[in-house]
Amino acid sequence: MTSSPIASTPRILVFDSGVGGLSIVHEIQKKLPFAPLIYASDNAFFPYGTKGEAELITRVDAVLHKIIAAHPIDIIVIACNTASTLTLPHIRDNFPQPVVGVVPAIKPAAAHSKSQVIGLLATPATVARPYTHALIREHAPNAEVISVGSSELVELAEHKLRGGEVKPEQLHTILQPFFLHSRIAEMDALVLACTHFPLLRNELAAQFLPQVQLIDSGEAIARRVASLLEPHHFIAQTPEHWAVFTKASSAVNALSPQLVQFGIHRINIIEV
Ligand code: DGL
Repeated sequence: MTSSPIASTPRILVFDSGVGGLSIVHEIQKKLPFAPLIYASDNAFFPYGTKGEAELITRVDAVLHKIIAAHPIDIIVIACNTASTLTLPHIRDNFPQPVVGVVPAIKPAAAHSKSQVIGLLATPATVARPYTHALIREHAPNAEVISVGSSELVELAEHKLRGGEVKPEQLHTILQPFFLHSRIAEMDALVLACTHFPLLRNELAAQFLPQVQLIDSGEAIARRVASLLEPHHFIAQTPEHWAVFTKASSAVNALSPQLVQFGIHRINIIEV
């Protein structure tokens, strides 16, 4: 499809299965503090990391169409590695807006790593995707990549943002496959390849040796969004942000105080 012209005050859609996209919102807000955002969480179909590929492509397409019909937007950010590594070509073909995807930060990790022993922490789906394997082949062909896929960690990030406690022992158990790897002592870069995981950055950093740099795609995505919107000026006033969920639930209510931290005061439920 051809691109449609961008409105004078562009609105940015940031889309994820759950709260993970808020780590991308954080980076976008640092770069574009006056940009109005629609934060959309497909909480009715959460988590994405355990879903089949065909059903996920159909789902993301349907949810995006329904949300955009209610909230006109000018640029789509798929703030989810699990969705981006699968659905990007389809979304780009089916929506007129520019689409920015979030994919595992293998390239900067390989550039940073002196030892060429790199960790990859993602959902089980992202770890298994051919797209991820292609990124590794292209950008880290000589590296040992220790991959761990965890949906439990995604749940823990959700739990934290609802005000819950995250215990170091819980993280230690999830991260055990790293610690059992024969080359773990050499690892000096860890790719946080799920947008939920930067929300646990400090807790995760505490589990690894200080030499391990935690790397995610958030800042690069914010830069890309800013460059796509470059010719447009935002009015220097507090923007009105919205959060959209695909299902009403007590978890959404519990999340409200966190959303306020991101300047999001309005919530819409659009059932899909
Ligand atoms: N936040 C998502 C990602 O970046 C996925 C979490 C889920 O499994 O739903 O991969």
